[in-house]
Amino acid sequence: MLSLTTVESLREAVKTWRTKGNCIALVPTMGNLHAGHVKLVEAARKKADKVVVSIFVNPTQFGAGEDYETYPRTEKEDKRKLEAAAVDGVFLPSVRQMYEPDAGTVVSVPTLSGVYCGASRRGHFDGVATVVTKLFNLVQPDSAFFGEKDFQQLAVIRALVRDLNFPVTLHGVVTVREADGLAMSSRNSYLSAQQRQVAPLLYQALCQARTTILSGASARADIERQAVLFLQEAGFQPEYFSVCRASDLKPAADTDTELVILAAAKLGTTRLIDNVCFSR
Ligand code: PAF
Repeated sequence: MLSLTTVESLREAVKTWRTKGNCIALVPTMGNLHAGHVKLVEAARKKADKVVVSIFVNPTQFGAGEDYETYPRTEKEDKRKLEAAAVDGVFLPSVRQMYEPDAGTVVSVPTLSGVYCGASRRGHFDGVATVVTKLFNLVQPDSAFFGEKDFQQLAVIRALVRDLNFPVTLHGVVTVREADGLAMSSRNSYLSAQQRQVAPLLYQALCQARTTILSGASARADIERQAVLFLQEAGFQPEYFSVCRASDLKPAADTDTELVILAAAKLGTTRLIDNVCFSR
């Protein structure tokens, strides 16, 4: 596995692979890799000759007071996992490699970036859209792989690819869960033992709401309110719990058939997100 820390070395590796006619998949990550990331790599492996994984804790997608400084950085173990997963190149740039000190260009998908996670994390999706655009320009992959756990992020990136005509096929990969249902996330490591026991209730609330909808209930606001109450009683501070149309994340109407329920809630200072996507 090539370990690439500069833009030049990445471009060189990509050029060599391209010359040989290889097709390339990109898996963008912020490191601290878990089984969910490995699933992304496995999916990429099936679609491409060469798989590049980027590990970059992107400062522009963190707001003031968020966990940029404390975000878990586990480069050695990450590299071991990627090697075991037969990754061809890992791109580990410094902040200086990715952003000139006076870099001011921002890519924004305003229609999807101010709601749900974007409402409490102002600028977050601009940071994501900007860094993903840069990674697409650097790697020029044929395909790119993102987890469905970050459903809104995937929607933002889908819009970005469509609106800017990136020749990249996007693949959403199904969320990997712990045995008790908790969606795998690097931020789960922030949970205390007691919070870790409560955390799977977020997924339970989502599954319960899905069951209620599939049994024919259509009062979206009631379903959302009940879930918020359930989560509050369990000790969460819910941020949003929203039944949406899967295609554009607008509030679901009774006639919509492809749905996603998006949720974010804090346990202490740890913010968890999850979703369930289904048809009715
Ligand atoms: O999902 C993530 O880990 C990040 O938001 C991403 C897509 C790698 C961009 O920094």
